Amino acid sequence: MQRENWASRLGFMLAAMGSAVGLGNIWRFSYVAGENGGGAFLILYILSVLVIGIPLLLVEVSIGRKAQRDIVGSYKKLAPKQPWFMVGYLGVASAFLILSFYSVVAGWALYYWWRYVTGAMTEMPDIGFGGSFEAFISQDYAPLFWHALFMGITMFIVLVGVKKGIELANKILMPILALMMIALAIYSVTLPGAGEGLAFLFQPDWSVLDDPSVYIAALGQAFFSLSLGVGTMMTYGSYLTKQHQLPGATVGIGVMDTLFAIISGIVIFPAVFAFGIDPSSGPPLVFITLPEIFYQMNFGGVIGLVFFTALSLAAISSSISLLEVPVAYLMRAANMSRKLASLIVGLVIFASGVTVSLGMGKWSGITLIGDRNILDSMDFLSSNVFLPIGGVTMALFVGWYFSKQEALEASDLTNNPIGGLWYVLVKFIAPFIIAIIFLNSLGIV
Ligand code: PHE
Repeated sequence: MQRENWASRLGFMLAAMGSAVGLGNIWRFSYVAGENGGGAFLILYILSVLVIGIPLLLVEVSIGRKAQRDIVGSYKKLAPKQPWFMVGYLGVASAFLILSFYSVVAGWALYYWWRYVTGAMTEMPDIGFGGSFEAFISQDYAPLFWHALFMGITMFIVLVGVKKGIELANKILMPILALMMIALAIYSVTLPGAGEGLAFLFQPDWSVLDDPSVYIAALGQAFFSLSLGVGTMMTYGSYLTKQHQLPGATVGIGVMDTLFAIISGIVIFPAVFAFGIDPSSGPPLVFITLPEIFYQMNFGGVIGLVFFTALSLAAISSSISLLEVPVAYLMRAANMSRKLASLIVGLVIFASGVTVSLGMGKWSGITLIGDRNILDSMDFLSSNVFLPIGGVTMALFVGWYFSKQEALEASDLTNNPIGGLWYVLVKFIAPFIIAIIFLNSLGIV
């Protein structure tokens, strides 16, 4: 069977940006930054993206393009009879875990979208926006309906094949989302009390760096937000041909993704302080702050509608890239059709997501890792453990298993002046830093 390919390099870039930009930039970035003290976290996060994230993005896409296979198949093909392919299974497991909670949170976003459609959000609930959000997510069935709807849409797109629907949707919606975020940021900084929020985000309080968990949080956020270490970018890279140049594309993806996160911080934190919300409220943060902003604004009902439309679509372009990892694997390994693989994996992930959703209400007493509920545990395990391990192994694979010439060749850096720097980063520096941060977070170094 002929493998699928992107129509153009732009098609790949849009899909990869669509994958990178999603709930991670708005929902996850703001709550993780809020929990980790703001400014100092932001600096660590940006450093992680520049020194580790972007170089590894190039690594991951290069492996996929060279092998022309899913993540497990890529390692098996490039390193036959060697244990590297085990990392492939780790990637498949990460995609599975992330999508289990991603689709629940995206379901919340869809629900908010619907409330803006019906106009329900133009009235202040008696229990406030925070109270009404908590009341919603802790129900048994209503959030599951939205989770099912979101998973259904994701499965449908992956099942049909990615080219038509998603490339087009991304082309139109990403610019709209970007413009809206910028407009909201301008509005947000004019709120009374905005200065405190900006100071929280841009004036680092270095004392938070004493806590080892901040480093792994920043690294984990960089991996999550860049869709790195899962095999998503490898799989997307495998649909590229050798004629497309990779370095510029990966830098573009990384920079765009980071700008989105910073702008969303400028939207969220002034509002957090203006409305007296606790920045460390965790996962619900944006679902409380944004409705507050929209409620205060003129035409907030319409703006909220467009915003949640764009956010839901950004979530879809990321979720399909997550589903694509196990689907591409099953299609090759089990020789399954795209349709069957999408259906099976989608249903299993949906079921796993049900536990996440119930974990916000009925099962909120269940804690898996430390005192984390099901959502937080899955998020912690995938972002702060699996993705860094996945990323480090990719770097080691290209840095040590490939010859230098092969590594540069695979990533289109032969004869490029930054090739040498990139190679040193990938071979030594990035693995070293990741290892230190990782071991440090476990209390080992
Ligand atoms: N990067 C996506 C986001 O920020 C989430 C994602 C993670 C997608 C890993 C694919 C792989 O929303």
